[in-house]
Amino acid sequence: MDWRTIYKDKIMTADEAVRHIKSGDHVTVAEVGSQPYALTEALERNYEHLENVELHYLLSLGNPPAAKPGMEKHVRFHGMFLSGSTRPLIKENRGEFMPCFFHQYPKMVLSRGGVDVMMISISEPDKHGFCSIGPGVDHIPTMKNHAKLIIAQMNKNLPRVMGNSFVHLRDVDIIVEEDRPIPTLPGAEITDVERKIGEYCASLVNDGDTLQLGIGGIPDAVVTFLKDKKDLGLHTEMAADGIVDLIKAGIINNKKKTLHPGKCIATFAAGSQNLYDFLDDNPNFELHGVDYVNDPNVIAMNDNMVSINSCIQVDLVGQINAEVVKGMQFSGVGGQVDFIRGARMSKGGRSIIALPSTAAKGTISKIVPFLDHGAYVTTSRMDVDYIVTEYGIAHLWGKTLRERAKALIAIAHPNFRADLAEEYAKRFGETLEI
Ligand code: COA
Repeated sequence: MDWRTIYKDKIMTADEAVRHIKSGDHVTVAEVGSQPYALTEALERNYEHLENVELHYLLSLGNPPAAKPGMEKHVRFHGMFLSGSTRPLIKENRGEFMPCFFHQYPKMVLSRGGVDVMMISISEPDKHGFCSIGPGVDHIPTMKNHAKLIIAQMNKNLPRVMGNSFVHLRDVDIIVEEDRPIPTLPGAEITDVERKIGEYCASLVNDGDTLQLGIGGIPDAVVTFLKDKKDLGLHTEMAADGIVDLIKAGIINNKKKTLHPGKCIATFAAGSQNLYDFLDDNPNFELHGVDYVNDPNVIAMNDNMVSINSCIQVDLVGQINAEVVKGMQFSGVGGQVDFIRGARMSKGGRSIIALPSTAAKGTISKIVPFLDHGAYVTTSRMDVDYIVTEYGIAHLWGKTLRERAKALIAIAHPNFRADLAEEYAKRFGETLEI
């Protein structure tokens, strides 16, 4: 029998669907390409009768949910990671930021009182009635089991990703049929500085390693220098465009992986249509819940795990601020600490923080004596391992404070080395030749 006949009572319009949200509800929304835009837009038309609704979501690639000015008095954004679209909500006191390791995100949201309503996207069902939940898997597999009401936008353009990424139509309470294009994440041009950093990072990657690559120009640059490597594996938080060519060329083949051999593993994907087409129905690439993929104990089950992430600034002893720019929350810890700790625990593992030596067109050093006033430590000096800039590699793991400072000054931008050396002399009673 056709699914529309079996589930006809569950089918309604987006406006009818969101009217099931009640005052005081905690609502969780799927992220990136899985954001159910028809539902989040319907909520923007139907919120004025609501009070004290907590809306939980992560990255939005298009119109972010509940960002409409004034809506925060009724339905308020709660997040643990910010992007361009959600930063103003925190800056203007129109939303709430919750510090949280990404692998603990489902647990944290559940601890705030559970999930009353979950809004997700689903593909059309297969012959067994299972629908894929698309490229934004992360918290959905765990939280859908706790949600009191699941509202799904069925979108036939949603890539049918493999892994722990399916929901059966019988477990969905409300179905809203609306096809939309999947929003893409524009790729950035790789700069010469990023290319140099990419080359240094790639020199720390050995044949047979399993990689986690973060978001942005640096990971994209790293990928371009991996073309001569062999038998790489992928266990990453985010799947982005750069990896597709490496997989197609057989450089990432997952043959040496000690966990999920033969498979690429991620928790969400965001990129171009090319990436989404690559993931569609691809049994070689699985997306699983973030509480599994980002769990440091799970990451550590991959031997020779190498994580590559970035930051805003690093102080002279290796404390990393990856979240705060000029005293304002800019992003969040995301999976940075999850992967740095997982890589440290992995047999043969390493972690890399890669950053340009300067910001603001060369006027600010990102290697600093002290983190900015108002900055937070994202990765502690006990966790940090390799730091890479366009001037080289500093290996901090197992090094004294003095050795760390010396190694970091050597990879700082030459324009700032004298100032840093002055701080070094004050702190360690020794003049540094620069
Ligand atoms: N002082 C002042 N401004 C700084 C700065 C510094 N030390 N460092 C960066 N900035 C500014 C940049 O100039 C830029 O400003 P603009 O947007 O006006 O151009 C902005 O801050 C962002 O810097 P940029 O270097 O372009 O950031 P990015 O896109 O490479 O992202 C992080 C860097 C750290 C924000 C990002 O990697 C992150 O959020 N990391 C934490 C989460 C994580 O690692 N997850 C891993 C799994 S995916």
